[in-house]
Amino acid sequence: MWRELAPIGRHTGSGGYRRYAWTPADADCRAWFRAQAEDRGLAYETDRNGNQWAWLGDPAAGDAVVTGSHLDSVPDGGAFDGPLGVVSSFAALDELRARGARPRRPLAVVNFVDEEGARFGLACVGSRLTAGQLTAQDARALVDADGVSLAHAMEKAGQDPDAIGADPERLARVGAFVELHVEQGRALDLLDRPVGVASAIWPHGRWRFDFRGEANHAGTTRIEDRRDPMLTYATTVLAARKKARLAGALATFGKVAVEPNGVNAIASQVRGWLDSRAADEGTLAEVVTAIEQAARERGARDGVEVSVVRESFTPVVEFAHELRDTLAALLGAGAPVPVLPTGAGHDAGILSAAVPTAMLFVRNPSGVSHSPAESAAEDDCLAGVSALADVLEGLACR
Ligand code: GLV
Ligand code: MN
Ligand code: MN
Repeated sequence: MWRELAPIGRHTGSGGYRRYAWTPADADCRAWFRAQAEDRGLAYETDRNGNQWAWLGDPAAGDAVVTGSHLDSVPDGGAFDGPLGVVSSFAALDELRARGARPRRPLAVVNFVDEEGARFGLACVGSRLTAGQLTAQDARALVDADGVSLAHAMEKAGQDPDAIGADPERLARVGAFVELHVEQGRALDLLDRPVGVASAIWPHGRWRFDFRGEANHAGTTRIEDRRDPMLTYATTVLAARKKARLAGALATFGKVAVEPNGVNAIASQVRGWLDSRAADEGTLAEVVTAIEQAARERGARDGVEVSVVRESFTPVVEFAHELRDTLAALLGAGAPVPVLPTGAGHDAGILSAAVPTAMLFVRNPSGVSHSPAESAAEDDCLAGVSALADVLEGLACR
């Protein structure tokens, strides 16, 4: 499975993955998913929002145990974020069959579409729509950097954008969702353990900062006469780092768009996207307010207009305690399994508002993620498959 997925959407220059929702690379990943389902005799379907499902057993029976993740990526993402969960899910079903386990509950593997939000700016579009946390109208209106709407992109990829929306009937059939994911930090590495269970996801969001100044000649405009939005932006980036550090939070400007983007012109506008996260919502709100205030103060000095729009927000997620404890009991035969929080967002976090949800993490030796350098050792991936099979067997086959 890993070998087949490896070349899809891989950029030869960076070595990273560019698998954006509803692009040809995404279509190739989706074709791969479908083939995996059909090769195993699983019942394949695409839901109204474009999420892919592969069923073992009758979905209508209800109380299903569902596992899976996503196949899309951030710009130049690593191989594991998302795909490890999907590949491990199919491998865990194979393992269950090899063990001769007999499921009493329906089992399914799912690929949630557009988890990273790399193309349309909003993360977890597939799961948000399904869980009713994003309206069809708002989703259809999302646009990519080229001005292509999500609705148009879906249509071009053969998915009906008029059909999208909340899917409570589908969710009502899910008794538990378990997402396996590569760890995106070093907690497991520091504990010297291959697999852990998630406790919570930090609240997080994305804010778009627009800095509007005045385009002018780089060689003839006196310093006193400039209204340079790059300056306000740069100061805001430094303020973000400082405010986050003081609060024990995180704040990142990882994406920026400059107009007109000419080497010998002062920019007319800089647009920067802030990603901020903290252990609790109060701290997060304080940090973002402080960054916004710093931007406005500096903007006033620079003659630059500042506006801030919140593009998305995901509240704190505390995973279902009972399911988390069940997982810990199923996996803790030798030594207690590590239980850890994460600052990364996941479809599991979105679904947790609607169904009992849990996550398994697989050790990432460097902790690097959202980068081509993301890694996991083969033995640890296999330990992850075995742990997921233990969980599926414990939940669905006893
Ligand atoms: C998803 O990977 C996120 O946390 O941004
Ligand atoms: Mn990710
Ligand atoms: Mn992910």
